[in-house]
Amino acid sequence: MNTSLSIRRLAKHFDGVQALKSLDLEIPAGRLVTLLGPSGCGKTTLLRMIAGISDPTAGEIWLAGRRIEDVAPERRNFGMVFQTYALFPHMSVEKNVAFGLEMRGIKKAEIARRVAAALDLVGLAHLGKRLPRQLSGGQQQRVALARAVVIEPDVLLFDEPLSNLDAKLRDTLREDLRILQKKLGITSVYVTHDQSEAMALADEIVVMKDGEIVERGTPIDLYRRPTYRFTAEFLGMTNVIGGDLSGNQCRLPWGAVRQVENPGEKDAEGIAIRPEDIGIEAADGEFDGVIEHAVFMGAAIHYQVRAAGHTLRVLSTGGQNGVLEAGQQVKLTPPPAVHLLKTFRPAERVPV
Ligand SMILES: Nc1ncnc2c1ncn2[C@@H]1O[C@H](COP(=O)(O)OP(=O)(O)O)[C@@H](O)[C@H]1O
Ligand SMILES: [Mg+2]
Repeated sequence: MNTSLSIRRLAKHFDGVQALKSLDLEIPAGRLVTLLGPSGCGKTTLLRMIAGISDPTAGEIWLAGRRIEDVAPERRNFGMVFQTYALFPHMSVEKNVAFGLEMRGIKKAEIARRVAAALDLVGLAHLGKRLPRQLSGGQQQRVALARAVVIEPDVLLFDEPLSNLDAKLRDTLREDLRILQKKLGITSVYVTHDQSEAMALADEIVVMKDGEIVERGTPIDLYRRPTYRFTAEFLGMTNVIGGDLSGNQCRLPWGAVRQVENPGEKDAEGIAIRPEDIGIEAADGEFDGVIEHAVFMGAAIHYQVRAAGHTLRVLSTGGQNGVLEAGQQVKLTPPPAVHLLKTFRPAERVPV
């Protein structure tokens, strides 16, 4: 079955607040799309309208060839996982997972079979008899996931499901989630404000700001070739600097001339150089800098380096060579090509 989602000119107003402006978005069948943006940009609002638990002020939502804004949430056959686990506290894990199937009037034997399969899928086959409070946060979230997939949903919706878990567990669970989603091939929309989560999970990332889509793309495209400064800075760290453009070349503040990857870009605001693309050495390089600050992070060392009137962020993975110290003179080398960034300009208030 085709389970692509199509959102057309969707808007939501809360008396006076335009939480979502007129938004268009296509989510291909079987893909996982993350909605990424700062708190308050409208991610939850959008997800709730897709789920059917909030009504749009205007616009359309299509599932395959069918409009669904007027379809009640329980009839949409969507699975949902939220930040809080929202399990029934007095029911066992098995009962929690079985609940949606019982509501659908499915026969006992089939329920038992599907519940066992779903618990197996999330690695909890051995904990079916426990109560939610006898589980860790991560296990409870696995139960919530089993409950969402057991109904064989057309679409899975996630709203920051890993935010309440500690860092290590979050990393494990997001990998498990990605493997599971690929295996099941269920169309998924995943809300997060965490860029590394969005990168790790997404087929495509949709970057949002103030109720609008800034831009969308694969994690690699958005990271390496963002159109907007907002995207570049939201997806990891970047240096944004000025430079003298001439054709497809650019003279950087410290004199070096570099190729521009996207020279056709009109009204560029600045040049992006990722910290990991700048070479840093004690003796060899193109221009001088002085280390202001060094942070050892294990796999990498984060430096702030003063050079030609700028403080540059530089990330070195050459940990074998030890950590350069604050105050030390260093040589830096910019990458062979640089990327221009534009300023994202919010749309006018959209009348409904
Ligand atoms: N029920 C509501 N009543 C009034 N304003 C709301 C309501 N829900 C959300 N908002 C506002 O809509 C905007 C988007 O909120 P939300 O979708 O929760 O953002 P996000 O999930 O990206 O953090 C915010 O300005 C928020 O304050
Ligand atoms: Mg939210």
